Amino acid sequence: MSRTIACEKMPITSNIVSKVASIDVIVSEIHNFLRVTTPEAWVSHALGDLDTLLVDHANCEYKAAATGMSLITKYRRQPRLQRLMARLVREEMLHYEQVLVLMDQMGVDYRPLTASRYVKTLRDATRLNENDRLVDLLIVGAIIEARSCERFAALWAQLPARLGRFYKTLLRSEGRHYQDYLSLAHEFANESDVEQRLDHFLGIDQTLIETTDYEFRFHSGVPA
Ligand SMILES: [Fe+2]
Ligand SMILES: [Fe+2]
Repeated sequence: MSRTIACEKMPITSNIVSKVASIDVIVSEIHNFLRVTTPEAWVSHALGDLDTLLVDHANCEYKAAATGMSLITKYRRQPRLQRLMARLVREEMLHYEQVLVLMDQMGVDYRPLTASRYVKTLRDATRLNENDRLVDLLIVGAIIEARSCERFAALWAQLPARLGRFYKTLLRSEGRHYQDYLSLAHEFANESDVEQRLDHFLGIDQTLIETTDYEFRFHSGVPA
């Protein structure tokens, strides 16, 4: 199965990068990409524990920016990666700031939280040699962004108005980040390698989302 994505240098196209793409189009593309949607039990738990959701969400935005910075530092000779990651880092830090403001407005205090199993498990499954590792990190980046987009879509309409509006705007940004990562993966690997690795990591994502998870987090599985 081949996926179509859009970027300056690639002939393939997608609606998701369009600034006029409706939320429905974005969400439908993300649902086609991922194998499973968020379980209802996770959504119910999230709605009843917005404090943890927001603190972990802030951590996720910060870490998304840090991941972008790490790729910028390591792959200085890749101009398109540099540009896309520079924009991503800017946007993730803005999201981080916006989550902090919302936490303040909602009276949610920061507290240390352990990292969820989700990102660690995906990153632990990346290959170690140089080029393969970059391709895997980009594919993992695409899946994390797609899952974040899918979670915002699952939540936003049921949240308090201000938070819901915010999550609806984030959905569009994370959808674009998903595309940026995926188009970069295609720059460093051929179609069949990308498809094979997507298959591998989407399977891991599916397992992490569908199985019981003892810690509730933004990317956690089914609440215990
Ligand atoms: Fe973000
Ligand atoms: Fe993002």
